[in-house]
Amino acid sequence: METLVKKIDCKNIDINLIREAAQLIRAGELVAFPTETVYGLGADALHREGAEKIYSAKGRPSDNPLIVHIAEFKALEKITAAVPQEAWKLAEKFWPGPLTMIFPKSSAVPKTTTGGMETVAVRMPDHPVALALIRESGGYIAAPSANTSGKPSPTLAEHVYLDLKGRVPLILDGGGVGIGIESTIIDLSEKVPTILRPGYITKKMISEIIGEVRDDPGLISEDAAVRPKAPGMKYKHYAPKADLTVINGPQKQVIKKINELSAEKLARGRKVGVIGTDESISCYQCTCAKSIGSRCDEDAIARHLYGILREFDDMEIDDIYSESFATPRIGQAIMNRLLKAAGHQVINV
Ligand code: TXA
Ligand code: MG
Repeated sequence: METLVKKIDCKNIDINLIREAAQLIRAGELVAFPTETVYGLGADALHREGAEKIYSAKGRPSDNPLIVHIAEFKALEKITAAVPQEAWKLAEKFWPGPLTMIFPKSSAVPKTTTGGMETVAVRMPDHPVALALIRESGGYIAAPSANTSGKPSPTLAEHVYLDLKGRVPLILDGGGVGIGIESTIIDLSEKVPTILRPGYITKKMISEIIGEVRDDPGLISEDAAVRPKAPGMKYKHYAPKADLTVINGPQKQVIKKINELSAEKLARGRKVGVIGTDESISCYQCTCAKSIGSRCDEDAIARHLYGILREFDDMEIDDIYSESFATPRIGQAIMNRLLKAAGHQVINV
């Protein structure tokens, strides 16, 4: 299959191109498209074959459910069996935006879309291309991140192309995404609403609207017996090819430790990469040190994380040492992704 990459101007949407993409979705095909978080690999959420194509293109286990993307609030009714009051409050505040909510599903949603589950994850993305595509395609697009399973999520159309060329007929290239890490997922079916995946919308932001919220114990536990409730969180995700270690502690000691470790590896003929910040980058002796952005700009850190991991892959780096980025607001989400990429290898100094 030939993969076409077509540029689309987010400020001046070419509706003919959107219709061309929507026709593919309606015909049961796949289309990759930008959202504000990461690029998605879309198919018609209400048709069995759509989801099946997604699983096979990504090499994704078919018990890992997909998020259904909608463009109108009223679209919720058709695909859910019940919508609690809290959900409407959260939707009003955060949709369109990077928040995914879990609901009991209606019979309109095939089990292939939900990975066999009786619940359905839904979000309304805050991106003009995504919203236009959803509307023209019939209102319901199932879309996981558009990477091959196990790779960092794509923040550029080029990433999608490298991962999925030959397996998707069309990629809409809307340029770099705004946020760079996937949406927050919240499950409202529990007594206390539970965050299954941290993201740009934080626990604090959510609890300001609906009161008490907790983290899924499976999310933070290092004990493998505690299973995360979002099936996708159990897989070793976001993994770069290199061996990644996070160094945690006061800045000066972190830099010293990373320089020592890099020197040891370099002496053994390994290719080493370092993830630092604008403030620290000049302190690293290693030639492959990259800045993820300024420590004062946590949005930039989130936006650059996956791209840097991919750049190191392209350079065939053997070992990556990264600073820790437990920044005040979205630090939990950033560290969730970074620690997964590192397989929880952390050195405290
Ligand atoms: O920002 C995002 O959410 C991006 C963009 C494209 O919208 N999408 C995304 O999808 O990250 P994906 O498939 O890569 O991650 C979806 C996560 C998985 O961990 C999956 O297990 C979980 O959501 N999930 C989906 N439906 C669920 C359900 N019914 N119950 C529990 N977890 C669910
Ligand atoms: Mg994903």
